[in-house]
Amino acid sequence: MTVDVQKTGPYRVALSGDFRRADGSPTFPDFDVQPLIDTKDVEVVYLENSNPIRAEQMADFDALILLTPRFGKESIHPNGRLGIVARFGVGYDTVDVPSCTEAGIALAITPDGVRRPVAVSIIAFMLALTGKLLIKDHLTREGPDGFNRRGQHMGVGLVGRTLGALGIGNIGAELFRMAKPFDMKFIAHDPFADKKVAAELGIELVGLEDLFRGADVLSVNCPLTSETHHLVNAERLALMKPTAYLINTARGPIVDQKALTKVLRERKIAGAGLDVFEVEPVPADEPILKLDNVIVAPHALCWTDQCFAGNGAADVKAVLDVMKGEVPRGVVNRAVLDAPRFKARLEAFKARYGA
Ligand SMILES: NC(=O)c1ccc[n+]([C@@H]2O[C@H](COP(=O)([O-])OP(=O)(O)OC[C@H]3O[C@@H](n4cnc5c(N)ncnc54)[C@H](O)[C@@H]3O)[C@@H](O)[C@H]2O)c1
Repeated sequence: MTVDVQKTGPYRVALSGDFRRADGSPTFPDFDVQPLIDTKDVEVVYLENSNPIRAEQMADFDALILLTPRFGKESIHPNGRLGIVARFGVGYDTVDVPSCTEAGIALAITPDGVRRPVAVSIIAFMLALTGKLLIKDHLTREGPDGFNRRGQHMGVGLVGRTLGALGIGNIGAELFRMAKPFDMKFIAHDPFADKKVAAELGIELVGLEDLFRGADVLSVNCPLTSETHHLVNAERLALMKPTAYLINTARGPIVDQKALTKVLRERKIAGAGLDVFEVEPVPADEPILKLDNVIVAPHALCWTDQCFAGNGAADVKAVLDVMKGEVPRGVVNRAVLDAPRFKARLEAFKARYGA
């Protein structure tokens, strides 16, 4: 495989076909592609829909912005022209990372785009659960009967209560940053925590079991890996206070959903806020959806105009950074940064398009 930075012609950026609807309109209008289109020497092309992306589709492109299709070994053209896959969002289970690294292709994700929106959605769950928002909404709609029962649904004040997080990376740390004005106590468990960040945010790092015992509101913010699968299980849920709430905006299978359903049904914990599920889309007859102490969202509570604009802006910046010969932010396969093939590619881009 050769490194084939074109000697002439534009820097060609492909967008996966699902960024456009069948009628040609943008799938997510908040993703502003115009700054990319307006950049000198850049040509932007929407691919035909294909899942996975096919290698021949990528033959003439330097960069790819990828929404949902799979980008696997079979998507990599042997001419070695492609330099970066910029995933829209932070999940990359659809991308064959080792094959990208081997081919000298950087895989970038958009942590800057999701950090604030997901942290906001955790706060939204926390306020809705502790404020009994949905219950009070329902009571009000019942008319005087419901209104007269409002005293039975006292909310939970947050001052002095303990906010706990399982994982304090990009989103977990932002959650604590945003929760500062609530005057809560902060605890977290994260085996790879940045201790400086924890200290700056006033977070006490605790053992896994102490996190479950101590939190009044416990937010799951770790990645899904073989180690974290069902990390929140029956045994650990049993450690939680009966007044505590669990929030999961990370990935469904980190929580044993059957075990969670049981503790919620038996009122062993007070409630849960769930944006993610073990099976998605979550089937309508899933037992957890029948419980009145659960608030749910379809893996989209963080979906806002600003989240999509942010993800798009981060992807646009990543592909333009590579064009200038610079290392983009959010590279997942860090090993590629030391690979001679990728370094040579950046040098060649810099020589051709750099300032
Ligand atoms: N609901 C959504 O729409 C949405 C959007 C973006 C991200 N997410 C999910 O949110 C989660 C957090 O994302 P992020 O960007 O903060 O990731 P991140 O990689 O920046 O942070 C994850 C943190 O979890 C820690 N961790 C790893 N293993 C752990 C373990 N066994 N116990 C406790 N902590 C552990 C890591 O050390 C890291 O600090 C991920 O699961 C991600 O997929 C969901």
